[in-house]
Amino acid sequence: MTLLSGAARLAGVMGWPVSHSRSPRIHGTWLARAGIDGAYVPLPVQPQDFAEVVRGVAKAGFRGVNVTIPHKEAAFAVCDEVADFARRAGAVNTLVFHEGRILGRNTDGYGFVANVRAHGVKPGAGPALILGAGGAARAIAAALQDEGADVTLTNRTFERAEALARALPGVRVLPWEDRAAALGAFGLLVNTTSLGMRGQEALDMGLERAAHGLAVADIVYAPLETALLAEARMRGLKAVEGLGMLLHQAVPGFAAWFGVTPVVDDELYEIVSA
Ligand code: ATR
Repeated sequence: MTLLSGAARLAGVMGWPVSHSRSPRIHGTWLARAGIDGAYVPLPVQPQDFAEVVRGVAKAGFRGVNVTIPHKEAAFAVCDEVADFARRAGAVNTLVFHEGRILGRNTDGYGFVANVRAHGVKPGAGPALILGAGGAARAIAAALQDEGADVTLTNRTFERAEALARALPGVRVLPWEDRAAALGAFGLLVNTTSLGMRGQEALDMGLERAAHGLAVADIVYAPLETALLAEARMRGLKAVEGLGMLLHQAVPGFAAWFGVTPVVDDELYEIVSA
């Protein structure tokens, strides 16, 4: 255990509620491993207090914070500068306080791509089909475009998919009813909906028409192995679990705040999934 000194570096996560967040475990593991004089703490912040608290902790010497539900859009507004990728992703999840300025980043796209790569899948190798049109879908679509992938979105509410495609020129849309039949044309399938999460409905997505080399990624991580991933494995397809994205998306923030690039490995996976 490293005891804090008066010069300890501080960061944390703001959410409301925040008690479910696994980020303190992730960053706490990395801080302990590197023996860094620093701490990463949960910060329960109500929506109406968000901007005031952000400016307050920045003034109190924090290096930055992660931002989770319901603050991801408010985080945009509090920034003095927003990174290009965060602008394309339409959301900020990582704030870096630097020389009196608040810099906004989005690390979800990085986390998704790094996790897919860690599973031996090339994110830009083939056309990608994304299920869903929420915030996670937008960050992943933008990241896959940056990797050179041809991206198609399908969503229960078609208008939301169309709106996302307008925000990210080049993204195509597919009617939700056609998702299973169209699957053969894709090299990567990504579930960004909440379906398949513990306590939610099942995702109705048959993989019968999957091409031989299809990789299937799910951003749901509770359970760790969703029914979608289990079916992919049963069919001999590559399956990419969602927890890895959560771990990888934490890397850029940690590096910016604490000055060390941390490693995502099996031990971290075990600690955070426990
Ligand atoms: P986030 O921003 O975290 O990605 P979100 O904006 O709540 O989450 O998006 C959740 C996604 O799950 C949406 O694409 C949603 O589809 P709609 O846009 O039609 O609401 C999708 N989703 C949730 N419940 C669903 C269901 N029962 N069937 C199909 N899609 C569903």
